[in-house]
Amino acid sequence: MSRIVYVNGEYLPEEQAKVSVFDRGFLMADGVYEVTSVLGGKLIDFGGHMARLRRSLGELSMGNPLSDDDYLAAHRELVSRNGIENGMIYLQVTRGNPGDRDFAFPPEDTPQTVVMFTQEKDNLADNPAATTGWKVILTEDLRWSRRDIKTVQLLFPSLAKMEAKAAGADDAWLVEDGVITEGTSNNAYIVKDGTIITRQLSSDILHGITRAAVLRFAREAQMKVEERGFTPDEAKAADEAFVTSASAFVMPVVEIDGARIGEGKPGPVAQRLRDIYIEEMRKAAV
Ligand code: PDD
Repeated sequence: MSRIVYVNGEYLPEEQAKVSVFDRGFLMADGVYEVTSVLGGKLIDFGGHMARLRRSLGELSMGNPLSDDDYLAAHRELVSRNGIENGMIYLQVTRGNPGDRDFAFPPEDTPQTVVMFTQEKDNLADNPAATTGWKVILTEDLRWSRRDIKTVQLLFPSLAKMEAKAAGADDAWLVEDGVITEGTSNNAYIVKDGTIITRQLSSDILHGITRAAVLRFAREAQMKVEERGFTPDEAKAADEAFVTSASAFVMPVVEIDGARIGEGKPGPVAQRLRDIYIEEMRKAAV
């Protein structure tokens, strides 16, 4: 069945939704995005995604064409029109269509492009992968140095994902200067002697909305958290590993570059955090 998608204020069947060939998002990857999960027809941590969207736009001196209330109304409209019970809403904002190709930004009054669409995923909360865990490989982090901005320039993460798939793994963890930064589209964690370790916030990683919530829940549950980088050797010798993202929630990792982590099955810390996260976020969903 064809989806109804949002393009610049209109709700259209996906086949009829069009963006210009001159759009800066298409020509220059001059756009930012957010992915918000839907559980039980409601939006998970919508306020967090709006806050990060504003920050990404601000860092790129890009305007924000809609208010948070307008974004919320459009997200809800798409959930309703497409009958989404569980899944994701993708939102992209670009610097728009200047009518030609030019490295310089277009005039500030150039209308921006706003696109939103749904992705249905029935088993988002009871994802079978969460019971077996992911295998990840390690590869060099060759992205640009402003990974804190959620831009649509995802070519390197996409190449790393393909490298992981070719190796029979589920994802790649990226390594820079001998330290893990994050996964292709998620934040990376290890657990050692009961302490949860994940890289500190900086422009080296995306400031995950799920990361912020999970670390808050971990601290509230009296778990010890250390925000610092960790090496591949440390990761391979960890008791547990996991990743977080808006679409994977908390996903256990059971193998890193061929090394079995702990018992080679999802560990208790990751499983507990996943349960807490899903329960608490369902309660707070809008
Ligand atoms: N990815 N790090 C990177 C590089 C990401 O692309 C993402 C999100 C995250 C986790 O952020 P959050 O918890 O806010 O989803 C970390 C999204 C889900 C995607 O590209 O589909």
